[in-house]
Amino acid sequence: MAEETVWRTRRASIQDRDALASLCRSAVGPDDYILRVLDDLLLRNVTFVALDDDRIVGSMTYREVFDGSAWLSAARTHPRYRRKGVALALVRALEGVARMKGLHALRLWSSASNRAGVAAFTRAGFREVARFDRIVSDAARSPTRVSLARIALTEDTWSRIEGSPLLARTNGYVAHEWAFVPLDRANAHYLSNRGALWGWGANAVILADASETFGDDVLEMSPVHGDLRAILREAPRIARGRERGRVESFVPHDEGTLRIAADAGFAPGSWGKEAILCERLLDVAKVVRRVRKTYAEINASKRSGYAALALLAPRGHGHTGPHEDRWNR
Ligand SMILES: CC(C)(COP(=O)(O)OP(=O)(O)OC[C@H]1O[C@@H](n2cnc3c(N)ncnc32)[C@H](O)[C@@H]1OP(=O)(O)O)[C@@H](O)C(=O)NCCC(=O)NCCS
Repeated sequence: MAEETVWRTRRASIQDRDALASLCRSAVGPDDYILRVLDDLLLRNVTFVALDDDRIVGSMTYREVFDGSAWLSAARTHPRYRRKGVALALVRALEGVARMKGLHALRLWSSASNRAGVAAFTRAGFREVARFDRIVSDAARSPTRVSLARIALTEDTWSRIEGSPLLARTNGYVAHEWAFVPLDRANAHYLSNRGALWGWGANAVILADASETFGDDVLEMSPVHGDLRAILREAPRIARGRERGRVESFVPHDEGTLRIAADAGFAPGSWGKEAILCERLLDVAKVVRRVRKTYAEINASKRSGYAALALLAPRGHGHTGPHEDRWNR
């Protein structure tokens, strides 16, 4: 039963690399894609581990996203320690970190086929907000000839984003740098200011070079509005133009979209099939300010009438009451 044991958790460091690699091999297998990005998870993200004495029996990774949310990933529990509340304890520990930082939401995804993953995160209070499929394609041989331009967020561009039927199919969420955010006005502003929002004709996409994290030569492209068919057809050429070897995208999960993707030369990714994006909102901590009286207020409270007012009055601004001089003698 979950939560019978109170698991000790702590932040992992690069010293834990081998133990974590062995955990991943036991939890998922030798092909676990986390093995390729383990150093990155340890050095550039916050990875927490759960311990049985000194033995690492579970792990989960946390990363802050620009919209004030945290992205959780790489949940791994050793098979012999499953259904004992390890994943739950790690979510709680990372939730504590997120609250301390004043973040407003936790998000993660799990494949629909991963019963344990979906069940564990549902139990931890996450709710589905959208469903995606990850699709991949090699870059084309020649670069795009469309005139791709950065999009500035004007009222006109915002109304296209807000009214986008494409975005409506994912409840307004888009992938960006291997996390997901709702593309509300503030986030659209941020992405446009960072130079991540691009378009041609009536089409708009969010672009991110994913090579830093995955060590791959990948362009991440998230469709925002326009004609999905045209966007996906152009995507491999845009990747070539940006000197990437591949392009990947999270698109709405439905049969029609997968057919359009296949026509455009995309294949389903080896992971990220029917990815359920889950979210858990954190109520932002109420800050209770301790109001400490100033010395003038403390003094004033010992007097009354004009004498008190005189003490509180700003100095050098004329009369504050008839007895003002009494206190200055
Ligand atoms: C998913 C995973 C991390 C869950 O870890 P865990 O430590 O076993 O999860 P917990 O014990 O904290 O589970 C808490 C609750 O989630 C639910 N749950 C977890 N696994 C479940 C399963 N296989 N079937 C049904 N419910 C499950 C239960 O409600 C459980 O509480 P209970 O045991 O009291 O009924 C683990 O199965 C794992 O490592 N899987 C392989 C890697 C993976 O798929 N990662 C997730 C990617 S999203």
